[in-house]
Amino acid sequence: MIERRSDGARISPSVLNSDLTRLADSLRLLEQAGADFVHLDVMDGVFVPNISIGIPVVASVRAETRLPLDVHLMIDAPERYIAEFVAAGADILTVHVEATRHPHRALQMIRERGAKAGLALNPGTPVNHAIELLSLCDLVLVMSVNPGFGGQAFIASTIQRLERVRSAIRDGGHNTLVEVDGGVSTRNAGEIVAAGADILVAGTALFGASEGLVAAVEALRAASAIPP
Ligand code: DX5
Ligand code: ZN
Repeated sequence: MIERRSDGARISPSVLNSDLTRLADSLRLLEQAGADFVHLDVMDGVFVPNISIGIPVVASVRAETRLPLDVHLMIDAPERYIAEFVAAGADILTVHVEATRHPHRALQMIRERGAKAGLALNPGTPVNHAIELLSLCDLVLVMSVNPGFGGQAFIASTIQRLERVRSAIRDGGHNTLVEVDGGVSTRNAGEIVAAGADILVAGTALFGASEGLVAAVEALRAASAIPP
């Protein structure tokens, strides 16, 4: 199980909109900042209208950092590539419930290969599509934008969706963490965590920050801390 921490949410920086020619430098800074994961967005141009990185980049990042890799597959029929992404170094591998006819099987495959299994829900997908699968999920990724691009605005109705997912996890007695991805910043982190999120993915708010990457990670964690 992925442990919770007491000083704020876990932070999973997305390198999607960073300078990818400087990826090794970014990884050093993320380690220095105490980031909990590196979030890697894999897009196939079919499930989402964009193409990003693939298996060789995941393997290169694995070789360059000790941070756990949080790999978000935005690809159709992800079960075709689960073995390859786990072999490339994914610690968490997340598939979209909309992208496969067999999410149950896909989650089982991820765990059998030895990675943590994540299930992602697009903003228009009813949260109850995850309920029967929670016992197989180490995390549920609640998308707060339509996937495909960094830099989009947080969809406000995500807050109620987080509350519903959190309730279902509690009611079922599951050990599932909740991750949020898209438009997360210091302005909304407190509200997102109060609604039930454990892990915040952020790209633009970190890599576009005028104060620099390290300070931005620290600021996002501070903004996510709920007073006891
Ligand atoms: C969107 C990706 C996100 C994205 C987040 O499809 O899944 O991980 O990089 O970027 P921001 O934080 O800029 O919304
Ligand atoms: Zn993502």
